[in-house]
Amino acid sequence: MKNIILDCDPGHDDALAMMLAIASDKVKLLAVTTSAGNQTPDKTLNNAMRLLTLMKREDIPVAGGNQTPLVKELATAGNVHGKSGLDGADLPDPDFEAQSMTAIELIAQTLRNSKDQVTLVVTGPMTNAALFLRVYPDLAKEKIDQIVFMGGAMGLGNWTPSVEFNIFVDPEAAKIVLNFGIPMVMAPLNVTHQAQILKNEIEHVKTIKNPVGQAFYGLLNFFEIYHEDPKWGFQGAPLHDPCTIAWIIDPSLFETKKMNVDVEAEGELVRGETVCDYYDLTGKPHNTEVLLGIDRSRFIKLIDESLAKFD
Ligand code: BDR
Ligand code: CA
Repeated sequence: MKNIILDCDPGHDDALAMMLAIASDKVKLLAVTTSAGNQTPDKTLNNAMRLLTLMKREDIPVAGGNQTPLVKELATAGNVHGKSGLDGADLPDPDFEAQSMTAIELIAQTLRNSKDQVTLVVTGPMTNAALFLRVYPDLAKEKIDQIVFMGGAMGLGNWTPSVEFNIFVDPEAAKIVLNFGIPMVMAPLNVTHQAQILKNEIEHVKTIKNPVGQAFYGLLNFFEIYHEDPKWGFQGAPLHDPCTIAWIIDPSLFETKKMNVDVEAEGELVRGETVCDYYDLTGKPHNTEVLLGIDRSRFIKLIDESLAKFD
C-alpha cells in the first residue's frame, strides 16, 4: 500500500487522478492540497471538496494552497476546464470544511503523522510543492520517497510551442522541485497524449450507473470538446493527470527512461520548457524517471474498473 498526498488543481483530469487514488486498494490517499492553475485557487479548492463529497470521502483532509505562482501572474485554463474548473457535471456542494491550515502545513502535518514514507503526487503547477520543500527541507528528505508529477514535455507544448501548462504557470517552482534531490517521476505530454480516452470509450462510461460514473461521464464529455480541434490530431481526450496515479498503482503500464530533467525559467520563447537530457549529454544525475509509453487499453480498463467500484 502506497501512502500519497495529492496536490492538484481540479480540473477534469485531476478529478480522474483523485478518483483512481480513492478507488485503488494499492493507494492510501492521506490528504489533498490544491493549487492555483486550471482555475483560481478558491475554485480549485472548492472543486476538490466537491469531488470528495461526490466520492463520499469527506474524511480526507483538504487544504488550499498559495494564491499565486512564486513569481509570475496566475494564468488559468478556463478555455479547457470551463468557468468552474470542472464544468460538465452537477457535482454536490461540499458537505464538510476545508482545513484552516495552508496546503504546506497540511503536507507537513500529514508527513509527521505518517510512520511510513509518503509519495507526493503533483498534478497542477508546483507552487505548493516548491514552497513546502523550501520551508521544510529536512522533513521532506526524511519522509517523501518520490515526487510523481504531471508536467512538461520533450519537444512538445500545449500552452506555448514547447511549454506544457503546469510548468508554464510556475516555472520557478518546477525548477526548485526538480533540483531539490528527491527522486522524481514525470508524466510529460509525450505519454499523456498517448493516454487518450476515445469517444466510444467515453460513451461506455455512461453505462457505469453509479453517481460517480455518471458525473465522470459528464466531465469527460465536456473535457473532450476542447480536444476536438483538428490541430491536436486527437481521437478523444488526453488523460494527463491520471497517468501519475496509474503509474503508482501499476508501473507495468508504462515504458520509462531515467534522465536528468531541469526547467528553463527564463527566455522569451522557452520560459517553462522542461529540458530532458535523453542522451545523457550533460552527465548530470538522473533525477527523473520519465514516462514515455503507455499500454493505453489497460489504462482505460483501469479507469473503467475504478469508476465501477463506487456505490
Ligand atoms: C495539465 O494542465 C492542466 O490543464 C491539466 O489538468 C493537466 O494537469 C496538462 O497540461
Ligand atoms: Ca491538473
